[in-house]
Amino acid sequence: MSPTLYYLALVTHVAGITIMAGTTFIDFVAFRTFWRVFKTDQPKGLVLESFLYKLQLFIGIGMLIILLSGVLMMVRLHEVWGAQLWFRIKMGMLVLIIINGLILRRTAGSKLKKMLAGEVIEGKLDGIKRNFTAVQLVQILLFLIIYVLSVFKFN
Ligand code: HEM
Repeated sequence: MSPTLYYLALVTHVAGITIMAGTTFIDFVAFRTFWRVFKTDQPKGLVLESFLYKLQLFIGIGMLIILLSGVLMMVRLHEVWGAQLWFRIKMGMLVLIIINGLILRRTAGSKLKKMLAGEVIEGKLDGIKRNFTAVQLVQILLFLIIYVLSVFKFN
């Protein structure tokens, strides 16, 4: 693989990160706005809820771009990066991002849906909000850890 193709894969990697991590941050902000609006104006809240669902699609697209470009770079330099500590820890963090983002975020989302359908009793609302916040903050923290690992490349 030529160096140009490698750098193109790296640029694509950064674009994928922008989409995924940027959308994760907006998910955090939009959820807070949704929660505030829903308490006073339910129809407006429902519009924001559908926006929250749409965001998940972009998180998935970003993840796909990151994975494809990452694998492409590894085709060329797997012997170099694959043996290094930063890369191994990064792959562990990636698994946590997938578990947190796909499984826990989805569970929180379906609880929210049940709440909106009137299936959740008042006392549990705070729990749902806490779960959402925890999942979103952990996701942002995992991204930051991956940034530090990928830029400093500790070995
Ligand atoms: C959520 C997932 C990921 C995030 C947030 C992420 C983030 C980053 C960042 C910030 C860089 C540094 C770019 C630079 O210094 O110019 C980088 C580089 C790199 N990433 Fe990822 N990455 C992710 C997943 C992956 C995966 C799944 C692979 C491979 C299978 C991978 C392979 C690489 C490689 C090989 C580099 C080094 C490129 C170089 O410096 O030449 N990444 N990544």
